[in-house]
Amino acid sequence: MSQRTLVLLKPDTVRRGLVGEVVSRFEAKGLGIVAMELRTIDGDQADRHYAEHVERDFYPPLRAFVTSGPLVAMVVEGDEAIEVVRALNGATDGRKAAPGTIRGDLSLSNRENLVHGSDSPESAEREIGLWFPNL
Ligand code: RTP
Ligand code: MG
Repeated sequence: MSQRTLVLLKPDTVRRGLVGEVVSRFEAKGLGIVAMELRTIDGDQADRHYAEHVERDFYPPLRAFVTSGPLVAMVVEGDEAIEVVRALNGATDGRKAAPGTIRGDLSLSNRENLVHGSDSPESAEREIGLWFPNL
């Protein structure tokens, strides 16, 4: 079943010059790009995006990180796109993520882990509405 999911290439991806590398992996898998935009977000947008995490201990440094420079927001589409993107992204902690995944190959951090992917159809709908209200 074709699905859409929200993907963020977080500021570390842009800063490290890895946008092309990461986008290539989604394209090579066969996923389609529906929307893609370079954006710098403020704390309010970070709070809305990470609403489920705002009370967590790790949130203040995460908020500082995601607002620290430009990121790339994307809507990606394809068969089972939500699960497929999360499998390509790998486990949250780059130090533990499997080789072959984006985080496993390219990140050594639990916070600066390069990518975000929606974790359920409900999250995807909410996040696409938040980032690309005209879609
Ligand atoms: P994402 O939402 O970015 O796709 O990542 P995820 O589902 O794999 O992980 P999630 O639990 O939703 O956490 C969101 C982001 O918060 C940062 N984080 N830091 N203990 C920590 O320091 C910690 N835990 C999570 C990561 O940037 C993670 O991607
Ligand atoms: Mg998450």
